[in-house]
Amino acid sequence: MMKKALTLISLLWGAGFIIAGIVMGILGYRHISYSIYFLLPFVTFGLVGVIPASLLLLMTYAKTWRGRLAWVVLYVIAITAIVESVAIWKKYYEIPRNGGPYLVFSGDPKTTMTICWAAEKAVPGKIDYVKDGESGWLHAECASAHYPKVLLEGLQPGTHYRYRVPALGNKEHSFQTAPSAPEDFSFAVYGDNRHAGFISFHQSVLRAIKREEPNYNGFRLILNSGDIVERSGTGHGWQWHSFLRDITPLASSRPYEVSLGNHEAGGSPKYYEEFFDYGVPDHWRVLDYAGVRFIALSTQDDLEPGSPQYAWLVKTLDTPPADTRFTVVTLHKPLLTYDPRERYHDPALRSLLEPLFPEKKVDIVFAGHVHAYEHHHLPAFEHVITGGGGVMLWNKPVPGPETVKTETCWHFCAVEVKGNTMSVRAIRTDCSLLDAFTITSKKI
Ligand SMILES: [Fe+2]
Repeated sequence: MMKKALTLISLLWGAGFIIAGIVMGILGYRHISYSIYFLLPFVTFGLVGVIPASLLLLMTYAKTWRGRLAWVVLYVIAITAIVESVAIWKKYYEIPRNGGPYLVFSGDPKTTMTICWAAEKAVPGKIDYVKDGESGWLHAECASAHYPKVLLEGLQPGTHYRYRVPALGNKEHSFQTAPSAPEDFSFAVYGDNRHAGFISFHQSVLRAIKREEPNYNGFRLILNSGDIVERSGTGHGWQWHSFLRDITPLASSRPYEVSLGNHEAGGSPKYYEEFFDYGVPDHWRVLDYAGVRFIALSTQDDLEPGSPQYAWLVKTLDTPPADTRFTVVTLHKPLLTYDPRERYHDPALRSLLEPLFPEKKVDIVFAGHVHAYEHHHLPAFEHVITGGGGVMLWNKPVPGPETVKTETCWHFCAVEVKGNTMSVRAIRTDCSLLDAFTITSKKI
């Protein structure tokens, strides 16, 4: 009798949690149409149901107390081993592991390039490099660091170079310096590639960028609008390693420029600062590349009038080089979003920047933070949220008065600058077209 009752309890317990998982899964799937939102609650609730239920069942059918005890010990050992393995794996990555290289601009893009990588042992960084087509290798060094950054100076504009990082095994890579005058080129933009728990679809987005690249004669730059890791403090070193492993195939041959997001800034931005050196002490900067002025702002730092960042922004917008065709602003938090949830809205940011940007002839803004694609047409500039870089897609914006297109999907933006036009194509990870529009320069 007792055995039958316990069997019934264990079966009801297991089935109850599995049903709860199915119900939660259906609710998640209805909110965002991705099967992952069904599987996550199904698996989580399923485990909570199946593990204790199966143990109870085994104990019921074990013939002796010794047998029952053996099952309990086995379960405790198995669960402890799984939890401990994860802790050991995370601890392994607390010391940066060899990875990279990746490129950034920290000086004049026409005559410099900064080569970075991650090193298990903090030893002086060394780079061999040579102009493409020549054979006399040159050498450059930097001080000891876990994230060495070697600044190559005195390069020729618009020129291809080959380089190798002896500490990473002498594999040859290449890059191209910025041209000395405006020319046609393409770049890619996306954001919010971070993990949520242990899940990220960043690699699918990067594969799509790689597949699309030949259609654009190569992307000269990769811009990321922030949230590259879930958290950046102790216990999250593995996320930096994973991020570096993901971006290396692209970032080893062109600069990778990140606007600080709230996740890598959470707690302390020191990990972000250690990983990237854009040649300035602040989290905001400007890059003039082939007639396009790229301004990266930090929505994690004060942007109010009177703040150092605001003063810098106004001055930078007022003093573009004479040959500037377009001004592109990247920042993490958007000026506007039609995601229904209040916490994604920042009316103060919109009221601050929406009047300023037309006055200073900003052409387009790329933001993130909202895990979806939104394209808004504002009176004098385009506003794009490209927050589908690989993170879980839990935002579902609705169309608003300024919305041209919105969709919740993983994607990136391919931007082609040709003469006085800039064409933007938002592309899903299956390489289908999500949105396309062209803007014309207001400056020539
Ligand atoms: Fe964010």
